[in-house]
Amino acid sequence: MSAPLATCILAAGLGTRMKSAHAKVLHRVAGRPMIEYPVALAHALGSEQVVCVLGHQAAEVQAAVEDRFGKGQIAVAIQAEQHGTGHAVQQAAPLFEDHRGLLLVLYGDVPLLTEATLTRLIDTASAGILALITFEPESPRGYGRVVRNEAGKVTRIVEEKDCSDAERRIGECNAGIYCGPSRFILESLHALTPDNAQGELYLTDVVEMAAHELAVATILASAEEVMGVNDRVELARADRVMRLRLAERLMRDGVTVRDPERLYLEPGVVVGRDTELGPGVELRGRTAIGEGCRIEAGVVISDCTVGSRVHVKPYCVLGESVVGDDAHLGPVAHLRPGTVLDREVHLGNFVETKKTRLGRGSKANHLSYLGDAEIGAGVNVGCGTITCNYDGYTKSKTVIEDGAFIGSDTQLVAPVTVGKGAVVAAGTTVTEDVPAGALALTRPKQIAVAGWAERKRARMGGAPESKPKPKKPRKTAAGRRGRRRK
Ligand code: UD1
Ligand code: CA
Repeated sequence: MSAPLATCILAAGLGTRMKSAHAKVLHRVAGRPMIEYPVALAHALGSEQVVCVLGHQAAEVQAAVEDRFGKGQIAVAIQAEQHGTGHAVQQAAPLFEDHRGLLLVLYGDVPLLTEATLTRLIDTASAGILALITFEPESPRGYGRVVRNEAGKVTRIVEEKDCSDAERRIGECNAGIYCGPSRFILESLHALTPDNAQGELYLTDVVEMAAHELAVATILASAEEVMGVNDRVELARADRVMRLRLAERLMRDGVTVRDPERLYLEPGVVVGRDTELGPGVELRGRTAIGEGCRIEAGVVISDCTVGSRVHVKPYCVLGESVVGDDAHLGPVAHLRPGTVLDREVHLGNFVETKKTRLGRGSKANHLSYLGDAEIGAGVNVGCGTITCNYDGYTKSKTVIEDGAFIGSDTQLVAPVTVGKGAVVAAGTTVTEDVPAGALALTRPKQIAVAGWAERKRARMGGAPESKPKPKKPRKTAAGRRGRRRK
């Protein structure tokens, strides 16, 4: 086993270039606040302690982290005023006082960093040296340059603003991600001075101290992996890379993705093999989808559990619901929170459900609202059925027992129960319980007035569309007003 690990995540900056009312690390990459990525990495690497250094909107950022990882999974150090990366780690230092092992420093705005690269970094640092990630961007502008001696050893990092002309031409840059012995890093912080072009306490000065007192090693990473997000253009770039990575992982696990560029996936979403995801599909939160499903274009699923062999046709929206095996949904069905569908349920176009259960094989194929309903197995809900669950004050429940048949254009005024195998005739307004096996019917009896239509046609001089319409004079606003007054 290697030395115990502690992680310090720097995330106090406002991110002025985001031009936002929200702290930079709350902006989302692949659907999740950016701050979640380094925290998840720290946990994945087995970090015993994770401290986030927060400043701008610290409470909101902390709440976002706790929302995902639970309370107590990170500690927070507040850096009220930002006087540089060294100053930031100084704020966290007291929390690491008892730590004996390696300290990893991550940034809250570098979401694409991978576990593989950090594992290399930590392995390198395990030798008791300071390891840092470097990269070679197309343009090194704005980054700290990695200065090496004739022997190729790193001697220090120099910030762009402090560079000599020769140093400015160095292509190798500092990613700002370090790992080294905690004691050494924390003690070195005492020696930092704001003796530089920006008057800040630079964490990078620790590298020069390590070059004298320990040793420094570098791990080269791709520019893409260590890219920081500073504005919305970089945010979109990071989002795309992350989504493609997630899509690729699914594809390697046996999921067909029809248009990887247009799959909107959050980390943590699970999809079974042989499931096909169409273009523009969005899978969010704690969503798990079984095997052999077909999720067609534009479907949005949040926090749902979907069984196997489920067919979700285009443009359905599902939230906080459970869908059983072999169900068919949509197109354009809306499953709102608390929907629980047993296997083989069919919900067709423009069917909305909320806090509603449907038993095995039940169907509501067209234009219905089913809210606060308990529907048994083998029930047929006809086109245009509405559970009237709300009287303006309280919500009430509708119960439809196994095998019942609800005719089209029915209103079920809750609370009400339709018994087992009962039939509700089309157009009925159900206000009282229907006994098992009964027929409920509330529409007035149909009458036929003999000859009425013919008499009307005679009176009007023909069938409605048979006569050519006389050309009307063009309507003017004044003309219309005049007519109304009559
Ligand atoms: C830093 C490095 C630079 C490196 C670059 C990579 C220093 C002095 N320089 O640049 O060598 O090339 O990162 O991106 O370390 N932060 C705080 N508190 C502060 C200052 C920064 O929490 O007082 C956080 C920011 O929110 C951000 C991260 O630290 O997440 C990096 O800060 P930023 O200002 O982007 O980096 P630089 O100091 O310019
Ligand atoms: Ca930056």
